[in-house]
Amino acid sequence: MSLVESLRDGELLLLQFANPPVNGLSHALRSGLYAALEQADADASVAAVVLYGGPKAFSGGADIREFGQPQALAEPNLPGLCARLDAMSKPVVAAVDGLALGGGLELALSCHHRVVVGTAQIGLPEVNLGLLPGAGGTQRFPRAVGLATALQMVPSGQPRRAAQLAALSGQLLVDELAESATLLDQAKALARRVASQRPLARLRDRSVEADPSELAAAEAQAAALPYPAPLACVQAVRGALELPFDEGIAAERAGFQRLMASPESAALRHAFFAERAAAKVPGIEADTPRRAIRRVGVLGAGTMGSGIATACLMGGLLVDLVEPDAAALARGVAALDKHLQAQVSKGRLSADKAAALRANLRPGGDDAVLADADLLIEAVFEDMALKQSVFRRLDALAKPGAILATNTSTLDVDAIAAVTQRPADVLGLHFFSPAAVMKLLEVVRGAATAPAVLASALGFGKQIGKTCVVAGVCDGFIGNRMIDRYLEQALFLLDEGCSPQQVDQAIEAWGFAMGPFRMIDLAGNDVSWRIRQQRAKDGTLRRAQPLADRLCELGRFGQKSGGGWYDYEGREAKPSKAVAALIAAHREQLGRAPRAVAAEEIVDRLLLALAVEGERLLAEGVALRASDIDLVYLAGYGFPRWKGGPMFEAQRRGPEALAARRREFAALAHDDPQFWMP
Ligand code: NAI
Repeated sequence: MSLVESLRDGELLLLQFANPPVNGLSHALRSGLYAALEQADADASVAAVVLYGGPKAFSGGADIREFGQPQALAEPNLPGLCARLDAMSKPVVAAVDGLALGGGLELALSCHHRVVVGTAQIGLPEVNLGLLPGAGGTQRFPRAVGLATALQMVPSGQPRRAAQLAALSGQLLVDELAESATLLDQAKALARRVASQRPLARLRDRSVEADPSELAAAEAQAAALPYPAPLACVQAVRGALELPFDEGIAAERAGFQRLMASPESAALRHAFFAERAAAKVPGIEADTPRRAIRRVGVLGAGTMGSGIATACLMGGLLVDLVEPDAAALARGVAALDKHLQAQVSKGRLSADKAAALRANLRPGGDDAVLADADLLIEAVFEDMALKQSVFRRLDALAKPGAILATNTSTLDVDAIAAVTQRPADVLGLHFFSPAAVMKLLEVVRGAATAPAVLASALGFGKQIGKTCVVAGVCDGFIGNRMIDRYLEQALFLLDEGCSPQQVDQAIEAWGFAMGPFRMIDLAGNDVSWRIRQQRAKDGTLRRAQPLADRLCELGRFGQKSGGGWYDYEGREAKPSKAVAALIAAHREQLGRAPRAVAAEEIVDRLLLALAVEGERLLAEGVALRASDIDLVYLAGYGFPRWKGGPMFEAQRRGPEALAARRREFAALAHDDPQFWMP
């Protein structure tokens, strides 16, 4: 089938288009539609046209394969196609099923009538890429749904179901709701009814129903966001209210072009593609066999085990949670219940659904049940001897073909796999805390991990809604190995003269969700303290941290102990006099006179520490690609999405600027010259 198929049905012309998977509006599809519309317009025997994309999607919008390519903008471009619809001399009815998103919705809005399946998703998600809808969406959508709904949906990018929107907006957006099975018949019947109706029902000829005071509120809300697209969306919508249609379109176009050239949009588009790229793993093909994962066994019901069990239940899996310590098991199950309950209170889950998911949990102390599991995830204490003994036991218990995973953060996955008779079935599944909430999952490929095991683990991660990034075996994998260098620099900045709040404020102002000291106070300073002690014993400690050690010796573990780098009242961090004194004494011991450190240096030290270690991870093959590293930071570490990630930011600055900064940092002998220099 060509992209656009024309079928006659009496005086009607049915234009059915197809460009899998979601009818992306590629240049070829746009050209086909444009030509078919011209023909239909010129053909006196055609009284009306029905435009139909298929049951899965009317259209998901721009074809992402054309992003950044010249075809994306080549004529006929999408605004041109929409203008062609405006110029039609006979009515065009859109028959919408599945998705009408972005350019797909703009195309439907340019038709004269719309028959829509109630479950279809309707939305303008361009803002998620730092853009605004550039083919009339900001002008026609408010005319169809009213100002309030447009102001809610355009700057947020959130889609809604057609039935819900139809109830809100009368018949302008949706002439008729339909079921998939009757959609085409209804659309044709409508087309016959309106075939001779004039004037044609064009949204461009309508005005926006509005209470303009809503604009000011939406503008203020969008202006508070750290990237320009939401505000530009609101301002474009304002044009629909205040300008004649064609001027509104011109203003929208100008806004679109401005955003397209903005660094924030470049970063958001990079993040979008990073997510897609991460799913492509060398050695894993479409035909790599996948093992079915229905029942998951989780060992250890501590912080992580309980969270992992929760994530698996929420993903619809059957879960055995095994924990020998009855009190720990009760705590783990209580935490799981609390999470499910919170989902119900927030309206994200119905009580019935929560109860059905909860019924899939078998908690207990006896590990014999694990013989049923398709995937086993170990989350016991971080101790190699214990983990190896657990894996010997799992090896004896687990059924053939079961996948054995460890959630270790620092231990060698290969050394754990080596104690089993089936190292090809072993890998790391490194969740982040709280595991039921955090999106990131590092999938750690061991030296012997079979492609089918890796592919199945990636499928599992997707099923439970995680953003998966494949990493090789090394201490800390991708995220934590880089965060160690970042935290070293944060501590170095204290040596140099900064206070914890000065460091946090600088990087938070740059865009991080949380600065390093607030972050480590939340995670618990004792965790890294224990790791440092272990490494000192093993002779693998890279850089001693006497100041951080001293903090822990005082019992200042962080939020949980009421004080860490800050004093805490509840969750609120307050500068601590005790810590200021500790830092001053530490500097004195170092014989270092404090200097004033500019915010720019703070930000650069922290960011470049991430990027420099990221480069090493790439060179060592631990990370497959720079965009995977960015994704780890976006999904797991509160890195601002509109900055793209540490590798993207480093690349944006360019190699010369980067090298100069590294030389400058390396010149301080009391820093870590070896780290900074290539
Ligand atoms: P935790 O101390 O909260 O929980 C460990 C649990 O394992 C305890 O309840 C303990 O009773 C249980 N356990 C001990 N031996 C067992 C056995 N033979 N069979 C079954 N259960 C047993 O520790 P947490 O924080 O949950 O960490 C668990 C693992 O996850 C560690 O390897 C840790 O490095 C890793 N991890 C921790 C993260 C964190 O933020 N806490 C993040 C990512 C990984």
